[in-house]
Amino acid sequence: MVYYSQTGITKTVAEEFQRQLGADIECIEVEDAYDGNYTETIDRCQREMAEGKLPVVKPLSSDLSKYDMIFVGYPIWFGTCALPMLSWLESVDLAGKTIVPFCTFGSGGLNTSTADIRKAEPEATVFDGYGVRAARIAAAPKEITRFLVENGYRKGKVVTYEDYSAQREVTTEDVRIFNDACSDYQFPLGVPVSVGLRKTSDGIDYKFTAISKGMDGNESEVTIFVTAPNEGKAEFTQVVR
Ligand SMILES: Cc1cc2nc3c(=O)[nH]c(=O)nc-3n(C[C@H](O)[C@H](O)[C@H](O)COP(=O)(O)O)c2cc1C
Repeated sequence: MVYYSQTGITKTVAEEFQRQLGADIECIEVEDAYDGNYTETIDRCQREMAEGKLPVVKPLSSDLSKYDMIFVGYPIWFGTCALPMLSWLESVDLAGKTIVPFCTFGSGGLNTSTADIRKAEPEATVFDGYGVRAARIAAAPKEITRFLVENGYRKGKVVTYEDYSAQREVTTEDVRIFNDACSDYQFPLGVPVSVGLRKTSDGIDYKFTAISKGMDGNESEVTIFVTAPNEGKAEFTQVVR
């Protein structure tokens, strides 16, 4: 398993994957580390992206030729893999290997990261990955078990979930659940319009369609996934724009 983590969230998730898989693990380090705060990091990345420069990463000490399957973990930056991960992918040739991505993010899910890994490593097989919001890493161990078992990476049994039901207009109760899950987020996430549901082993998952105002001030339709356990608070799991 190879991962990059700037502030430790992806590291926590990588270590949980490692614990459940018993895999070897190594983290990617940047020569000139991103040790600034959030705003400084955003500024530095924007400069680097404008110049078309990726940060230089240190070579790994692991011999990757020993491995057929590599779990690759990263935070989402600007809707894709963090720059150090993009830089590492450029520096290695993973032809013939199987890659399983995993990531952590603020709100937006794996986004284009899987497609970008496929572009960077066209001769590797890149499977669909796992992602979790930074604010929900307490839920990660259970979700990782499900992900690993469902995809056959680990032995075990999990209940298979049905697909979400067809979208229907939201009821007052759906809106209450939506607000419960979304209203403490740092930005308004939108107004729910329709919803599909599925039963899970410990509650109900909701797939809301909502109308949301973007940074540009324009309204657009977004999909917001919410998980509501029988006991405890509902949380949104990702916002797909
Ligand atoms: C430069 C930068 C860009 C980011 N861009 C996004 C983004 O586009 N979408 C998102 O959901 N989160 C974004 N985030 C939030 C991170 O993905 C999130 O905080 C992540 O869990 C950090 O992982 P780490 O602690 O392993 O570095 C960004 C964070 C940084 C620093």
